[in-house]
Amino acid sequence: MPHEHDRELATEFDRWAQSGRHLAMERGHGRFTERALAGWTLGSEHSVLDVGCGNGWAVRRMLALGAGQGTGVDISEEMIAQATPPGRYLQAPADRLPFPDASFSHILSVEALYYTADPESVLREWRRVAKPGGRLLLLVDLYRENPCWRVWQPLLTIPVHVLGEHEWAATLERSGWQVTDRRRILEPGGVRPEAEFEPSPWSPSYADYLAEKQAGTLCLEATAG
Ligand SMILES: C[S@@+](CC[C@H](N)C(=O)[O-])C[C@H]1O[C@@H](n2cnc3c(N)ncnc32)[C@H](O)[C@@H]1O
Repeated sequence: MPHEHDRELATEFDRWAQSGRHLAMERGHGRFTERALAGWTLGSEHSVLDVGCGNGWAVRRMLALGAGQGTGVDISEEMIAQATPPGRYLQAPADRLPFPDASFSHILSVEALYYTADPESVLREWRRVAKPGGRLLLLVDLYRENPCWRVWQPLLTIPVHVLGEHEWAATLERSGWQVTDRRRILEPGGVRPEAEFEPSPWSPSYADYLAEKQAGTLCLEATAG
C-alpha cells in the first residue's frame, strides 16, 4: 500500500513543519551534512537534487557551494511551503520523481530514505534520474549500529527501516548504484560536556546522547556507473 503510506508520511511531516521542526533539523543535520558535502566539488555545470529536502536548506547550501541548478523534493506540502529560493522545490514522493531520465549530476538525501515504504525501489528511481556517472550521497542517523534507534523508533508514529551499514550498501548495489565510500561522520566540534547536556525524549540521558554521537552519522557514497 505505498500510496496509503505516502499519505501517512505527508500528514506526519506536515505536522513536523507546522511545529517548526524543520528549523531544528536544519541546525542538527546541517553540521554533519556540511562535512559530507566537503567531498563534492560543485560547479555551474552541475544540477543537484535533494530528496526529502525538508525546508530546502541543503539545496541552498549546495547552490552556495557552486552548483548551477538546485532542486528539492519532499512529500510534505508544508515542508515545501517553508522552502524559499534560491532553488526550485516540488512536492513529490521519493519513488515517483517528476523528472526525465538522467536529469541530475548529484543527488543528496539526509535522514529521509528509511521512512519510505520500499527503499530499494526508491533508490532505483534515483538511479533513473541520475546522469551517467552521477553521484549519490546518503546520510543516515537511524541505522542498526547506532543504538539511538532503540530510543527513536518507539517515538516515531510512522514505521521506519532500521538497516545496518552493510544492508544499506547492499540495497544501493541491488538498485544499480556502485558504492564508492562508506564512513561515519562524528559530531563536528566534538560532543557536548555533561554540564551542557539537556535531556529530551530523543536523548533522555547523557549516556544515550554519548552513544549516539560516538556511533556517528552513516555516510554512503555511490555513483551511477
Ligand atoms: C527527518 S526529515 C529530514 C528533512 C531534511 N532532509 C533535513 O535534514 O532537514 C525527513 C524528510 O523526508 C521527507 N520524506 C519522507 N518520506 C518521503 C517520501 N517517501 N518521499 C519524499 N519525501 C519524503 C519528509 O517529508 C521529511 O521532510
